[in-house]
Amino acid sequence: MTSTQDGSVVIFGSGLIGRSWAMLFASGGFKVKLYDIEQQQITNALENIRKEMKTLEQNGILKGSLSADQQLALISGCTDIKVAVEGAIYIQECTPENLDLKKKVFSQLDLIVDDKVILSSSSSCLLPSKMFVGLKHVKQCIVAHPVNPPYYVPLVELVPHPETDPSTMERTYAIMKKIGQSPVKIKKEIDGFILNRLQYAIISEAWRLVDEGLVSPSDLDIVMSDGLGMRYAFIGPLETMHLNAEGNSSFLLELRSFLKELDLVSWKTELWSPLLLIFINKLCEDLPLKTRKLHSSW
Ligand SMILES: NC(=O)c1ccc[n+]([C@@H]2O[C@H](COP(=O)([O-])OP(=O)(O)OC[C@H]3O[C@@H](n4cnc5c(N)ncnc54)[C@H](O)[C@@H]3O)[C@@H](O)[C@H]2O)c1
Repeated sequence: MTSTQDGSVVIFGSGLIGRSWAMLFASGGFKVKLYDIEQQQITNALENIRKEMKTLEQNGILKGSLSADQQLALISGCTDIKVAVEGAIYIQECTPENLDLKKKVFSQLDLIVDDKVILSSSSSCLLPSKMFVGLKHVKQCIVAHPVNPPYYVPLVELVPHPETDPSTMERTYAIMKKIGQSPVKIKKEIDGFILNRLQYAIISEAWRLVDEGLVSPSDLDIVMSDGLGMRYAFIGPLETMHLNAEGNSSFLLELRSFLKELDLVSWKTELWSPLLLIFINKLCEDLPLKTRKLHSSW
């Protein structure tokens, strides 16, 4: 069997997200065991993956350096949990979003895994401190939250439990990079992680603007799909702010008073925190004024 990586990866739950993860890990040359309690789910998943990989290959957009047949040969199904985790270096849990179920699943795994394997959850919003509570292997636990479908959207939010070992974060980060994802390290768990906090901040302001009769719902959506969203597909909000003014001091002078006028809750404070200013300074160093013109003109 063709494999470029040592050790296997277990996809724990072969539904929508599990299938996409399986394809990603196979594209990175990992041997993948697709585990589920439902044999039919595994059968459907393997068939679905085969069809999708073939279509991607025919269209020249299959990920990785292996052919579709080589990648498919790396993926196998399994309904025996002990057989599934044997020799695993990484387990990506993809069971339904239910705290009690996930706690049960991780307790089961806790009894049979070694001291090295990474136990990672795809959870969209369950906090690691609730999911991994009381586990013997808590240092090896982390959330790796993908965006649906992970095969096509690279972002993965890595969220540690307070007791997660820093090496678990680093190893998970490296594995995600290996399979071509864009992991981000969240330093401390928070409800909504980062993506959903940003998403719901936008939704909440959108609701307010529509509710106050300032714009129609369809025009509000055009503002995002044909405007702001196009910009954000390339650069984030902080870099956008930096490019909007001539560097750090101008940024503060020009934008600060304007932002306060907008009457958004977070701008009401008189002083921004010293930590935020340190980050803004760092951003300005990373993207100096010399290159600003280049970025702006692009
Ligand atoms: N769907 C999304 O848009 C999305 C996006 C990001 C993250 N997630 C997260 O990914 C996880 C999986 O979501 P999904 O949409 O793939 O769910 P899904 O319902 O499509 O798949 C869940 C799979 O888990 C299996 N399963 C159930 N109990 C099990 C058990 N005890 N042991 C092993 N397998 C079991 C089911 O048979 C099914 O195949 C959830 O935590 C979800 O929040 C989902």
